[in-house]
Amino acid sequence: MSDLKGTTIIWLGHAAVYISTAKGTSILIDPFISANPKYPKGHKLPEKIDLILATHGHGDHISDLVDTAKKHNAIVVGIPEIVGWAQSKGVKNGVGMNMGGTWRHEDIAVSMVEARHSSGIADGDKSVYGGEPVGFVLTIENGPVLYHAGDTAVFSDMQLIREFYHPELAMLPIGDHYTMGPKGAALAAKFLGVKTVLPIHYGTFPILTGTPEELKKHLEGTGIEVKAISPGESLR
Ligand code: NI
Ligand code: MN
Repeated sequence: MSDLKGTTIIWLGHAAVYISTAKGTSILIDPFISANPKYPKGHKLPEKIDLILATHGHGDHISDLVDTAKKHNAIVVGIPEIVGWAQSKGVKNGVGMNMGGTWRHEDIAVSMVEARHSSGIADGDKSVYGGEPVGFVLTIENGPVLYHAGDTAVFSDMQLIREFYHPELAMLPIGDHYTMGPKGAALAAKFLGVKTVLPIHYGTFPILTGTPEELKKHLEGTGIEVKAISPGESLR
């Protein structure tokens, strides 16, 4: 297991993750709460959330983005199309950025990287253009380097993410069907050179059939650890 040096990661089911650093900076990624069948029952988010990161525009990643950002007065960080949409719905603080870029806030450097997926925003009965889907690398001062892949297929340029950012822990979708499954995620973990994988985006709906056990099988002998936790549990 990677040494998280005081950083805590709480899995909130599906792709939703809450991270707080040793210094107390807090980040929520892909807030899918009210309609998330795997959101931990009764789990209360802390009053203070500094940043909310959105990987792409699908409902299972941003359906609670606007409400949560307003309630916690958080800064929404994402590709400009999604941040602009959130601001059009009344979110006050947004930081639009794009792939290859890094934005610093307190003790965290947020880097936006590519993902292989799609990204429309369902807005009433319209589909709004959501820009490109992305992943995020979080480089925490005096802490670990974390990677949240968003929804993606495995792609060979994950080796560039390794070369450039040296992530040690990756949050990877393994459910298959809409993203890579366990076999793809195992290859992704190897490309990324991470020590630890926190599997996400599985088991939420029956169609997301990939399991951590399969991922472990594909990673046997590599030394890469799979930390499968239940929604509401944390890595620290
Ligand atoms: Ni998606
Ligand atoms: Mn998804």
